[in-house]
Amino acid sequence: MTRTVTILGATGSVGRSTTALLEAAPEGAFAVEALVAGRDAAALAETARRLRARIAVLADPAGLPALREALAGSGIEAAAGPEAVIEAAARPADWTMAAIVGAAGLHPALAALRRGGTLALANKEALVCAGEIFLRAVRDAGATLLPVDSEHNAIFQALDARDPAMVERIILTASGGPFRTASLAEMRAATPEQAVRHPVWSMGAKISIDSATMFNKGLELIEAARLFPVSPDRIEVLVHPQSAVHGLVQYADGSLLAQLGTPDMRTPIAHALAWPNRMRADVARLDLAALGRLEFSAPDPVRFPALRLAREALLAGGGAPTILNAANEVAVARFLSRRLGFLDIARVVEETMERLGTPPVASLDAVIDLDAAARAEAERIASSLHAPA
Ligand SMILES: NC(=O)c1ccc[n+]([C@@H]2O[C@H](COP(=O)([O-])OP(=O)(O)OC[C@H]3O[C@@H](n4cnc5c(N)ncnc54)[C@H](OP(=O)(O)O)[C@@H]3O)[C@@H](O)[C@H]2O)c1
Repeated sequence: MTRTVTILGATGSVGRSTTALLEAAPEGAFAVEALVAGRDAAALAETARRLRARIAVLADPAGLPALREALAGSGIEAAAGPEAVIEAAARPADWTMAAIVGAAGLHPALAALRRGGTLALANKEALVCAGEIFLRAVRDAGATLLPVDSEHNAIFQALDARDPAMVERIILTASGGPFRTASLAEMRAATPEQAVRHPVWSMGAKISIDSATMFNKGLELIEAARLFPVSPDRIEVLVHPQSAVHGLVQYADGSLLAQLGTPDMRTPIAHALAWPNRMRADVARLDLAALGRLEFSAPDPVRFPALRLAREALLAGGGAPTILNAANEVAVARFLSRRLGFLDIARVVEETMERLGTPPVASLDAVIDLDAAARAEAERIASSLHAPA
């Protein structure tokens, strides 16, 4: 049976890994319904032609003429603008990849969820910022939510959820990023070029900076608490520079189950694409003898305050994770455009959290309002700090 697939964020790093799997799959296994991207009309059109998508949609309305021109004669529909993105996400599809970066992916992911089917979630910011509202949408629609983040996908594979009381703890591994062994002075002087150079994974710019600050692991901590039946105090993070073990589950009988693989997003995406079955993925196989050793250590709370801030936000509940995520997005964008120092990213997040506290977020509108308020506050705080020389 052919499965219809939509990709939100089709031109990004996760989007491209997803399209690579679709192209390598047997003819007729998948049919592409909609492809959505932000502003890259040329890349979107080229992907839509290769995958014979039915519709290609850009969030940026200014890109529509270029998209139309690039798709001329292909029979593929072209559309643009935020409304068109939501309509594309809501078109019937069996399986949707949510791989837009940041809270910008929230509305499209919710639109896809509300029409049911399976949502493969890479866009962790959407789940962090909307929390319970996101999960309620999953339940109300009877949709299936599958984690694509490699750590959460690993835990999903290792987790036997039949008896949650027997799960003692889950462990998310972190590569440690490019500054795992850097001094505070080196981190203070870090440039965007140094920070995006991830030692193991090849990813988009925002998540690469999040890996360098470890806010990525902080967001993943909150994501794990939302996805799995384990209380926050039983979710741990271990630095594991080889990135071979992606996640572990400790059971009451002493068993520790892990999922291992090479650092290639095609593996967790393939798992989510074929679930509950499996499919072939042409990724390098993990050669444990060649790797030789696996190292693990506790994260350094001084150089990487992001984990503490994320845990505080998770325990505070309410709108605290929404604030953390929004402030981090603002700070990362400023760092990437050289208007903020690397260590100031966590400073901006912490100060925004302190100033805004823990307001309740009972509705989606409340989440959107709080996200906007946190962005404005974070911009104010960041502009009061000196930009790096
Ligand atoms: N990369 C990884 O290995 C990885 C692993 C685990 C989880 N994730 C998560 O997956 C998500 C995507 O990460 P990525 O590394 O693939 O990011 P990326 O390479 O920067 O790609 C982002 C994608 O989102 C699109 N986009 C940006 N703003 C948009 C908007 N307002 N509306 C619609 N589309 C928009 C971009 O389109 P344009 O190209 O047109 O701008 C692009 O297709 C993030 O939440 C990240 O945390 C990534």
